[in-house]
Amino acid sequence: MPTVIFRSPDGTAHQVTAASGTVLMQAALAHGVPGIVAECGGNASCATCHVYIDPAQTGPVGPPNDVEDEMLDFTAAERRPTSRLSCQIRLSDTLDGLVVHLPEEQV
Ligand code: FES
Repeated sequence: MPTVIFRSPDGTAHQVTAASGTVLMQAALAHGVPGIVAECGGNASCATCHVYIDPAQTGPVGPPNDVEDEMLDFTAAERRPTSRLSCQIRLSDTLDGLVVHLPEEQV
């Protein structure tokens, strides 16, 4: 099962282990990771599940699709090249050890 580290803006690390196939946003909510709101429930229509992928790991995660890319223009915190919507990332063994950084704000 892949393990992901969510890092809060203050540096606090939240380690989450979830089954392959689990959506990253759902893994965060299930483990009480602060800073993921997910108002739309995972439909890529609210941008309140915004995360920054660690720059060294954007390759394995892959790029956003067109719908996500448009929605990333509406994040509360600044959009960066590593910005993704966590509801659009499905965990796999390839992503074991993934580090994602939480933004300062989601709404
Ligand atoms: S939960 Fe709404 S865009 Fe991800």
